[in-house]
Amino acid sequence: MSDTMPEKNNDIENRPGRSRAPASRRDFLAATASAGAGMFLARAAAAQDDAEAEAAAAPAEASAEAPAAAPSADDLNVALIGMGAQGMVLMNACLKIPGIRFKAVCDIWSYSQRRGSGTLRKFGHEVNVYEDFRELLDTEQDLDAAIVATPDFMHAEHAIGCMRAGLHVYCEKEMSNDLEKARQMVLASRETGKLLQIGHQRRSNPRYKHAIDRLLRDEALVGRVTHGYGQWNRAKSEDLGWPNRYTIDQATLEKYGFDSMQHFRNWRWYKKYGGGPIVDLGSHQIDIFNWVFGSNPKSVSASGGVDFYPDHEWYDNVMAVYEYDTPQGTSRAFYQVLTTTSNGGFYETFMGEDGTLVISEVPQRGNHFLREAHADQERWSQLAKNGDLVKYEEEPAAADKTDVLLDVRVSKPLGAWDLPIELNKPVHQPHLENFFDAIRMGTPLNCPAEVGYETAVEVLRVNDAVELACKVEFKPEDFVV
Ligand SMILES: NC(=O)c1ccc[n+]([C@@H]2O[C@H](COP(=O)([O-])OP(=O)(O)OC[C@H]3O[C@@H](n4cnc5c(N)ncnc54)[C@H](O)[C@@H]3O)[C@@H](O)[C@H]2O)c1
Repeated sequence: MSDTMPEKNNDIENRPGRSRAPASRRDFLAATASAGAGMFLARAAAAQDDAEAEAAAAPAEASAEAPAAAPSADDLNVALIGMGAQGMVLMNACLKIPGIRFKAVCDIWSYSQRRGSGTLRKFGHEVNVYEDFRELLDTEQDLDAAIVATPDFMHAEHAIGCMRAGLHVYCEKEMSNDLEKARQMVLASRETGKLLQIGHQRRSNPRYKHAIDRLLRDEALVGRVTHGYGQWNRAKSEDLGWPNRYTIDQATLEKYGFDSMQHFRNWRWYKKYGGGPIVDLGSHQIDIFNWVFGSNPKSVSASGGVDFYPDHEWYDNVMAVYEYDTPQGTSRAFYQVLTTTSNGGFYETFMGEDGTLVISEVPQRGNHFLREAHADQERWSQLAKNGDLVKYEEEPAAADKTDVLLDVRVSKPLGAWDLPIELNKPVHQPHLENFFDAIRMGTPLNCPAEVGYETAVEVLRVNDAVELACKVEFKPEDFVV
């Protein structure tokens, strides 16, 4: 393991007593939401022009020694449940957001506890550390929100428990590896009136919003989008291990639902805990299909198998074809996830009659539109003048040419036009900011539970399509809770 660990840890012994803050704090925060929002906005705005803003945009590691902002009455008090790889990513993104104060963290693994709490203390967040999330909820009385980044099979229990305890929840995707549990999460959010943001972070990414909402939707820049394509190809890899001294005893593993350390570390590959690569990776991009087509699919066919890693339960490669009913007719989208080749990495492509969008969370893999030769170049140029596109390459001459040897018309290469927006912060930060803005100011969530549920349905059903070796048809009511 390459991660470094803090040398000392007194976390477990340092269990907190009852709350140190008045129980009425949450009511106070709710009652003063607009005043708090004003103060928060003022602080955020003040930060825009100074070095704090620059520091906030820099990688967490670079500013690890930066002094933390002093606690303030209008901070949102947050608990983090699950401090593995993704919990740390979310934590680092939160550390760049003004007005967020970590008060408690929970993880069943001492390794994660030490790494996570050590990082937070470096940034001046004095957190109480728990192994069991129920103890955290029983003890901590001044929390506003929880971030859940545990393995998928625990999301429902953790998210629902937190909402019932009065907390707003940011829960990582996939909502669950079990649709009934995902449904219960939606219901709990409605019943408690608590926000539940699902971690499909592309929904808040300004590059995606500009490309999809502004250019594909509002401007209909590529006309009718007839096809989508997405892939996540990843090189072959060994299973994850663990340092011997951090082996969790069998009784504790079983207490938290894990059969073994191998399962605990590699939960994604086993049916009890996760949904396999199509869910783990594909869910991000299949979620974008929905956004672009503005509807849920009517069917999915898929092929896949456990073809390379004989000791895993979930399919290590899946190819799926979705059909969408759009107001303009049927559109299809192909998705593949491969775990034995990194060829092409991960990106999404949306092909329309007048052009194509190529986009990836990593801009180097896709950050542009391609114009079909017949599409109105004047219009695209006008959008570039308005700052909606950046034309970075001279387009080829107007006429197609004919290849005399093959006697076929050779299509002109397409012109490429960049997206004008850069995201100068970690990719999860805007989605977390959207969640915190929703708590403070009532900003609509970009991925509320209902949207996360729709994506969970269409992603989890791919595994059914593989198993049944047939086309799975969706009914509109399948997506409704
Ligand atoms: N949005 C994204 O881009 C993205 C990226 C990676 C992972 N994820 C999601 O984040 C979640 C976590 O993934 P990961 O890669 O960090 O996994 P991980 O195995 O690295 O970390 C999981 C952590 O949860 C802890 N844990 C397990 N059971 C627990 C329990 N009952 N209570 C408290 N802690 C518990 C583990 O000890 C571990 O520290 C998954 O749902 C995954 O799908 C999202």
